[in-house]
Amino acid sequence: MITRVDVLNYLIKVNDVKNYLEIGVNRGKCFFNIKGAKQRIAVDPYFNFSFIKKIRYLVKNPHNFKNKYFEMTSDRFFDSHHKFLKNNPINLTFIDGLHTFSQSLKDTLNSLKYLSDQGIIILHDCNPQDKIAAFPASNIEDARIKFSSHKSWKNIWNGDVWKTIVFLRKNHPELTVSVLDTDHGLGVVKKIPTQEVLPTVFDSISNEDIPQLEYSFLASHRKELLNLVPIEIFLGKE
Ligand SMILES: C[S@@+](CC[C@H](N)C(=O)[O-])C[C@H]1O[C@@H](n2cnc3c(N)ncnc32)[C@H](O)[C@@H]1O
Repeated sequence: MITRVDVLNYLIKVNDVKNYLEIGVNRGKCFFNIKGAKQRIAVDPYFNFSFIKKIRYLVKNPHNFKNKYFEMTSDRFFDSHHKFLKNNPINLTFIDGLHTFSQSLKDTLNSLKYLSDQGIIILHDCNPQDKIAAFPASNIEDARIKFSSHKSWKNIWNGDVWKTIVFLRKNHPELTVSVLDTDHGLGVVKKIPTQEVLPTVFDSISNEDIPQLEYSFLASHRKELLNLVPIEIFLGKE
């Protein structure tokens, strides 16, 4: 499977990415495998990696001494670091923090304020494959409490981030929004006015409806709602 790390590294390779921002870093499985960006910025309220891991990584990748670590929520980061963000416009943002509709939308709108004109936002978890993975829990602990005893739970919680794609496509024609069909769905947001006429399924959705949309609605209209793109096409391999 082509992973988020492959896609992010591909984007860094084909674009001039100076500043990479990752919201929600956890163990650094993605962050520590990003190659090529000049400065990488990590935001997470609880970094789940040791000081030793950070040092080992720096020794292996000495050009990354400029990386910045902000141990705080994304809201606090955007609220309290305007000057840093203004001086370091972001070329590529990877949003993978709290998997709720409201937080992923807020993270996207905040990221857009500091994204360079040619910049790209990638949002993880936009294409959940079952009802449990898509359940709108309030956080991963809440999802674990609800589902750990559930036989069909695959230990995957994507939450309702997919609704952010629906909201952006419905309300932001100044953006081009799609989802790559790989690794739980990678939303792609660019500051380029969309050329697309919205599919008719959007006619039946009001903004007030979006938070309440059910997984069954996504399952019946997945391609149209998400503007799902095969990963091979995105990578120019088809
Ligand atoms: C799925 S993990 C990130 C995985 C990582 N991006 C990767 O690909 O390996 C989600 C992370 O988001 C963090 N998180 C939760 N709420 C957050 C918030 N409000 N702001 C930023 N990060 C948050 C959690 O602490 C957790 O480490």
